[in-house]
Amino acid sequence: VIASDPIRAAIDALPPLPEVAVRVVEIVNDPDFSTDHLVAVVRTDPTLTTRVLKLCNSSLFALSREVHTVADAIAYLGSRRLVKLVLATCSMVYFRALDGAAGDSETLWRHSLATGILAQHLGERSEIVAPGTAFTAGILHDIGKVVLAPFADRSPGELAAATAAKAGDFLAGERALTGFDHAVVGGMVADRWQLPVDLRRAIRHHHSAALIMRDNPLTAVVHVADVIADQLGCGARDAFAYGLLPEATALLTLADDDLHRVRLDAIDEIERSEDLLKLE
Ligand SMILES: [Fe+2]
Ligand SMILES: [Fe+2]
Repeated sequence: VIASDPIRAAIDALPPLPEVAVRVVEIVNDPDFSTDHLVAVVRTDPTLTTRVLKLCNSSLFALSREVHTVADAIAYLGSRRLVKLVLATCSMVYFRALDGAAGDSETLWRHSLATGILAQHLGERSEIVAPGTAFTAGILHDIGKVVLAPFADRSPGELAAATAAKAGDFLAGERALTGFDHAVVGGMVADRWQLPVDLRRAIRHHHSAALIMRDNPLTAVVHVADVIADQLGCGARDAFAYGLLPEATALLTLADDDLHRVRLDAIDEIERSEDLLKLE
């Protein structure tokens, strides 16, 4: 087991999530937000603006003309899509930073994006959770794995073997190797980034069956989105390690046909986002 110091140091070493990522979500969560305000906030981060405009002009959106400003981007994509693009762009950096030894950064990024998309659709469907917040929580829910990978996954099969030794309990496998599990570490990252409290709790508790029910609806959304992502073939290393809590879907007032609808809508969007996965 690794002493906690190197893991805390790895958390501190993560580049901070740009403030603009959280602010744009807060803006669009307000039903009366102005696009001017959104433009002003995105433009405070020139690196991000450049990346977003580059993505807008990529084959991903196949726009009929080139966009040169954030205001144009909103006009062509809509503010919801722009905000998702901003968040995906800000989060992608962490998954890209996983090196070869830590393996499957592509798989984890794909899982995170799929969970974000599913969470957003669950938020829209349940009307209890703001969709933008749900997307953010989904895309960041496994950020703890990024921190733990260099410690828990030093050689191929190490984590799988530790999980097997713990009767298939993935989190126990992580704890056996590092003293932490990725949900706890994700919570520590979220604290460090000073994310809104509901986001911190959703990241920290997304695998805690007892807490999912007592926490906040966002935690339930992330749990359900995470499990459905696995079912849709967008799982990470721990795919199918956790069962769907029926109480969580009940809490979100979602019936089977709602979940079916969410799956269909999300599959479509996940497929269209494939290009986003390949971008540098
Ligand atoms: Fe997880
Ligand atoms: Fe996950």
